[in-house]
Amino acid sequence: MKFATNKKIINEIKTDCLMISVFNDGKLRGAAKLVNNANGKLIDDFIKNKDIQGKIGQTRIIPVTGKSYKRIVLVGCGKFEDFSQKNYRKAIASALSKISQTNHKSVVSLVHDGAEKIDNPNKAYRLSRVLAESWHSISYQYTTTKKSNLRKLDLRKIEIGTNGKKAIKDLKTGLEHGDAIGKATKLVRHLGDLPANICTPTYLVSVARKIMNKNKSATLKVLNEAQMKKLKMNSLLSVTAGASEPAKMIVAEFNNGSKSQKPIVVVGKGITFDTGGISLKPSNKMDEMKYDMCGASTTIGLMQMVTELNLPINAVFVVPACENVPSSTATLPGDVVTSMSGTTIEVLNTDAEGRLILADALTYAQRYKPKLMIDMATLTGACVVALGAHHSGLMSNSDQLADQLFQCGQSTDDVTWRLPLTEDYANQIVSNFADVANISTRGSGAGTITAGCFLQKFVGDYDWAHIDIAGVAWAEGANKGATGRPMGLMSEFLINESKT
Ligand code: BES
Ligand code: MN
Ligand code: ZN
Repeated sequence: MKFATNKKIINEIKTDCLMISVFNDGKLRGAAKLVNNANGKLIDDFIKNKDIQGKIGQTRIIPVTGKSYKRIVLVGCGKFEDFSQKNYRKAIASALSKISQTNHKSVVSLVHDGAEKIDNPNKAYRLSRVLAESWHSISYQYTTTKKSNLRKLDLRKIEIGTNGKKAIKDLKTGLEHGDAIGKATKLVRHLGDLPANICTPTYLVSVARKIMNKNKSATLKVLNEAQMKKLKMNSLLSVTAGASEPAKMIVAEFNNGSKSQKPIVVVGKGITFDTGGISLKPSNKMDEMKYDMCGASTTIGLMQMVTELNLPINAVFVVPACENVPSSTATLPGDVVTSMSGTTIEVLNTDAEGRLILADALTYAQRYKPKLMIDMATLTGACVVALGAHHSGLMSNSDQLADQLFQCGQSTDDVTWRLPLTEDYANQIVSNFADVANISTRGSGAGTITAGCFLQKFVGDYDWAHIDIAGVAWAEGANKGATGRPMGLMSEFLINESKT
């Protein structure tokens, strides 16, 4: 897809589809008003006859003759007073989706015109980034094991119009970032949707390798089980103990910032399938546990995004990857393991495995003396109960980092909500036989927080945040599929870091 800016005035815009906004008050604004006047009040007629009511997501494609544009696309944007980035995103996505079902090859969007200030740097950046991201979001197709999902897409060029104004550089940057984030999000979704018999730890390594090989500031290291054993990663190894599929730990270094800058560490849970192990999960919906590597897929998506944009940052991406399956060699409930940090862990439930692999990954990551560490994990069913599919669970030992991540979520419509990590919760994971238990031994509540408290025991004094994405990383039911979250929020964070 080619993304560009278009500075032409309405009557000179050459395109197949000219997108303009219609709000639910029926009042035409900006470009919509101009297009209406240039076409004999055609849109007024559509509104009067309720061909369009301006609901968010509504789209009408209208053929016109004798104009430099072939179609007017009316894009429902809801209530004018409530026109948020989230509504803009929904409206754009739905219009592009509709257009993608036609043979039209080009689009110019003026949906924002009359509602938003395209000459404001931050607005311009957001509007164009959302436009590019939206294209990638609606054009994602899972085809690896179902070829009939393949739709031919004819659209080749998407432009954001300024209606005669000069295009400020932030518009271009937004398109460039949106394109890179959008493509990386497609990869995150693809890896999530792949079944566990294809998407193994070894497969994840091959994907990470391909990405990191393309950039000269990037290096990839992969630890195998023998190397993990040498490093005393017994917590991670206890999770893979039942599996014949080999475990891997991906460590991808990207050093593109100044030498003096400490790296940002990003860690993603990479359980390529979670059966629960000996503490076996029930069969119902167990297939969804192929998504238990969505923290890992997001980490790999971020590798792709930062290397493609060549962001001036230092970052280390860590992916502990393995299967959690039962067998005669599997870890048993009550087994005590000594983690890489030396802390002993009583594995009371082998289904609380994510925290076990993350513990060693977070310990390992400290050898980079990071500026801060962020982990993403489909960690607890309790997070789905607490926050559903809307907010990710955010936990941190640093108010500043928590605030930053919260804000990144707000800016990208990839929202989080913070949960407390106080000592009362940490007291729930005591063990009679080890330094810590891997589940609560004092009451069954606050499962997301007790998991966060467990992780906190392995981050030392470093600033650290944990994002529980169990509820947001994939959709269930008829629309079952990976969402690509939290790529939006994490991209925002790394882009912000690259400006400091
Ligand atoms: N991967 C699961 C968490 C999960 C469950 C995510 C359902 C999304 C939907 C995790 O490994 C797990 O099994 N957690 C247990 C922890 C419990 C044993 C303390 C859970 O949430 O039930
Ligand atoms: Mn589990
Ligand atoms: Zn899991």
